[in-house]
Amino acid sequence: MCTRAALTTGAACRKQRGMELQALANRLVRNRARLEAFARRHDLTAWRLYDLDIPEFRCTVDVYGEHVVVTALQGLQDDAAFHRALATTVAETLRLPADRVHLKVRRRHAPGETQYEKAEQDGPRLEVREQGQRFLVDLDQYVDTGLFMDHRRTRALVRDEAKGRRVLNLFCYTGAFTVYAAHGGATETTSVDASPRYLEWARANLTLNGLDGPGHRFIRADVLEWLPHATGMFDLAIVDPPSFSSGGRVGTTWDVQRDHVDLLARVRARLAPGGVLYFSTNFRGFRPDERAFHGTTCRELTPASIPDDFRQRDIHRCWRMEQRPNTPGP
Ligand SMILES: C[S@@+](CC[C@H](N)C(=O)[O-])C[C@H]1O[C@@H](n2cnc3c(N)ncnc32)[C@H](O)[C@@H]1O
Repeated sequence: MCTRAALTTGAACRKQRGMELQALANRLVRNRARLEAFARRHDLTAWRLYDLDIPEFRCTVDVYGEHVVVTALQGLQDDAAFHRALATTVAETLRLPADRVHLKVRRRHAPGETQYEKAEQDGPRLEVREQGQRFLVDLDQYVDTGLFMDHRRTRALVRDEAKGRRVLNLFCYTGAFTVYAAHGGATETTSVDASPRYLEWARANLTLNGLDGPGHRFIRADVLEWLPHATGMFDLAIVDPPSFSSGGRVGTTWDVQRDHVDLLARVRARLAPGGVLYFSTNFRGFRPDERAFHGTTCRELTPASIPDDFRQRDIHRCWRMEQRPNTPGP
């Protein structure tokens, strides 16, 4: 790719950039022909059209109904003019008005920095469909839209085994797992997150699906502080924590690599015999500590849990753990 300085001066470089954008456009057209049928088959109006297919073009393009979100990733030319050209190419190729293309730039976070920053206000929310469920997404306010599509298959697994279960959803974000669990027939759900905005959003998602009711609790809390005092037992737990967070108490940090054994032990203390725990992380390079799985029948779900519209087969790692009766935890 052209350097920034060369971009502004060299005609050769402009020509090269034009050829690169044309290659991206060709790929979008090819992928769309294949993936539109896939999306219809799975009842999806939110799906990934482009996932770093061309190594030099480090971006993703996600379809949300009549809109698309283009996310420039670390390593893609970090230049406003280039980002505009990218968004224009996507709009023209997909024949979308420019205001339906939402451009985001995802930068790597410094250790200890969280990506779940508070936005100033709620923007308009758009409704999308996924495998029989409906969700509200926000394409402008945050880097993330409210729906992590890479967990679509995991959510279907949770739905399929939620019937008659008491479900705990930790770090619940906008409650996508909760909606699936409720849809699958969970007798009760408990969703915990530190962010009141995300909890309100999770509640709205449940309402949108006609699933709200007294059996569904939303708790605003730091999971790490809440768990040691939690009462009640659960049959199914979903634990999808951030990779890093600065934590609720001043001076504390959370690090999934360092802290997952302790977290999972605390969750398992709240699981009924035979209870099931889904654990997932997006931390690339994560090395699970065997002590976390002791006393469970454990199966890694990745990469099979990653949907076919994703090329990044390491976008998350995920395990299903079933508590063996009468076995002490780690
Ligand atoms: C990776 S997202 C979880 C994604 C979610 N499981 C889903 O599938 O949509 C992380 C979430 O954890 C929440 N969070 C981060 N640190 C937390 C903490 N210490 N206690 C409670 N929630 C926390 C954030 O507010 C955010 O909603």
